[in-house]
Amino acid sequence: MAAQVKSKQRVEEHGEVFTNEREVNDMLDMVKQETERIDSRFLEPACGDGNFLSEVLRRKLAVVGERYGRSQLEYERYMFVAVSSIYGVDIMADNVAECRERLYGIAEDEYEHRFKDECRAEVLDSIRYLLSKNIQCGDALTLTAADGDPIVFPEWSLAMGSKVRRRDFTFAALLNVSAEEPTFDMLDEIDQDEMGKIIPKPIREYPLTSFLEVAKYE
Ligand SMILES: C[S@@+](CC[C@H](N)C(=O)[O-])C[C@H]1O[C@@H](n2cnc3c(N)ncnc32)[C@H](O)[C@@H]1O
Repeated sequence: MAAQVKSKQRVEEHGEVFTNEREVNDMLDMVKQETERIDSRFLEPACGDGNFLSEVLRRKLAVVGERYGRSQLEYERYMFVAVSSIYGVDIMADNVAECRERLYGIAEDEYEHRFKDECRAEVLDSIRYLLSKNIQCGDALTLTAADGDPIVFPEWSLAMGSKVRRRDFTFAALLNVSAEEPTFDMLDEIDQDEMGKIIPKPIREYPLTSFLEVAKYE
């Protein structure tokens, strides 16, 4: 079993105690259907080294394999969707690096296990890029990234064929979706519909691009 504690100091300073595999599975089973929906979005604001997110990815990829395993292109598109819908934040840079690497390793192993020498490097490059954007080092209480800027998450959605759409939202605006009243000065980043429901506004929208070329966005 993986260690649940890295050091006493980290427990005291950051409450860092990792969840064991059995508890992770028991908790995810409470939302089993969502964990098996390829495009359901999961955002974990204190993701550690990815105990929950990696199990979510495993479950999603099992479904991708069952449904699309016979067509490499379809498998690649839906593997992209599975990874692109997983988000995490952690305040510790080493946890973030480990979480990204772990998720990447799960996707890479599954992909290589299925398609062996036919695997395409650009698919794995896209997966790596997604993880660099979706798993971030920052403070989930102040909603700021390690560099002091607001945490921004991309929303990825599959458009026609192999094209994807990317829209960036601040973490703060996304959290306001569930608030009754907008908090602080969010007016540039949210809209409200006629019922007063808060709708986050993207801070940036990107042109449609192939899922194989998302890494060229910046
Ligand atoms: C109890 S551990 C849980 C880790 C992981 N979710 C798991 O269950 O294995 C709490 C995590 O929250 C992180 N953390 C503590 N304060 C945080 C903050 N303000 N913003 C983001 N992450 C934070 C710690 O670094 C640690 O990885």
